[in-house]
Amino acid sequence: MKEKEKKKSDFRYQTGDARVPWAAVGESVTVSDIEAMLRFLIQPGEDPSAYDNQMSKVMSALQDLAGKGVYASKLTLGDNVKALEEKMQEYLQVKHACFITNATAGFEIGLKFAGLKPGDEVIAPAITFLSTIAYPLVIGAKVVLADVDPLTLNIDPKDIARKITKKTKAIMPVHIGGYPCEMDEIMKLAEEHDLTVVEDVAHGFGGWYKGKALGCIGHFGSFSFHEVKNITSLGEGGLITTNTEYGNDFPKARFGGFDISNPIDKWLYDVVLLKGKGGHLSMAGNHSPMEIQAVALMEQLKRNQQIIDIRRENAAYLIERFKEVEEIIPCPFDTEDIKSTFHLYLLQLDWRKLNGDIQDFKVKIGEKGITQIPHFAPLYRFSYLKQFGYDTEAIKRSCPNAEEAFLHKFTHLPLYPLTREQLEYMADSVIEVVKEMRK
Ligand SMILES: Cc1ncc(COP(=O)(O)O)c(C=O)c1O
Repeated sequence: MKEKEKKKSDFRYQTGDARVPWAAVGESVTVSDIEAMLRFLIQPGEDPSAYDNQMSKVMSALQDLAGKGVYASKLTLGDNVKALEEKMQEYLQVKHACFITNATAGFEIGLKFAGLKPGDEVIAPAITFLSTIAYPLVIGAKVVLADVDPLTLNIDPKDIARKITKKTKAIMPVHIGGYPCEMDEIMKLAEEHDLTVVEDVAHGFGGWYKGKALGCIGHFGSFSFHEVKNITSLGEGGLITTNTEYGNDFPKARFGGFDISNPIDKWLYDVVLLKGKGGHLSMAGNHSPMEIQAVALMEQLKRNQQIIDIRRENAAYLIERFKEVEEIIPCPFDTEDIKSTFHLYLLQLDWRKLNGDIQDFKVKIGEKGITQIPHFAPLYRFSYLKQFGYDTEAIKRSCPNAEEAFLHKFTHLPLYPLTREQLEYMADSVIEVVKEMRK
């Protein structure tokens, strides 16, 4: 590639038109790297010789292309990340959107801006992924698990209300499977008690609640673009959003408090503490994503609605089919106010009408070759909460819906663009197993 024609880039690296540019960026990327990535992304199928044949044509075209082009002038935090963030702001109708490495990093950033300190309390649902509560736990804040609504398995605002104390600082609603939580009730509680709401929107990108995008209703939202999500930025990725003024500091929060907009005397940048609720905070972490992830996600974003639409159709099909078995509790669906992302299909059994429960069902359905993804086991069941000194038995007793759902009622079925045959087979199998288990 033609080094001297490098595009103008980040001033820190002077990869642009200097006579002797630093030229550290993208310098070592070669055609063979691109080949390796390509071979990783598209691997040989059933006919390796046909694959090799096509690949050699691709490689010679790539060599040719490389000779005509210039190096990428930025590999991380460049124009593509910026363009993606602008697109995300428009898509979600939110003031600030910052592309980061994963949703977990976003929870940390949001909770830091919320001023969370050791000894403070954070309320999160009993059923979620452990990363929702990881940051509060490690800094010595107290995690209070609220019970879930038996129909949606989302956090129950009534139990949040019961568990708020003087020490509560934040609420973390999780839109499980992409189905919106009762945000009006949660925001009302937050307002009454001056709490910060950090939405876990790992499953909720492109979902809506009463005309507002999920993740943009609370004070902060953190989305995931991990490989299993509806859309992905090459396997990992996240986005933190806010309508608050804290969003102005997101780029600094993403990268250790590093501030290139106000350089210090005789140096290129400053490093600062950021202002959060109730004081200053340090951003030690580096949560910067790569340009290539932004490029991939920008492309996937164009298909997001189409992907959700297919998933919605699949869910509608399953709901319709399952009407013939009264032992299946109907999965909550879209309404005028509620638009889910249909990341997962929530299957719940009215298990008391059956011989056995979801545990027996899971074995039988597994024997038929249907993979279920039961997101998730209640957090109080893992050793680590006990190891942190929590009375997990007491927490379990305070979350009866979560415990019953986990032990007896729920699993998740996949909804991604399955073939019609797979979808029908799954519906047939579920119905067959439930009928077999009838009392
Ligand atoms: C509910 C929930 N929250 C948070 C996360 C963490 O997302 P990430 O892997 O992007 O940090 C996940 C990941 O699957 C999740 O399912």
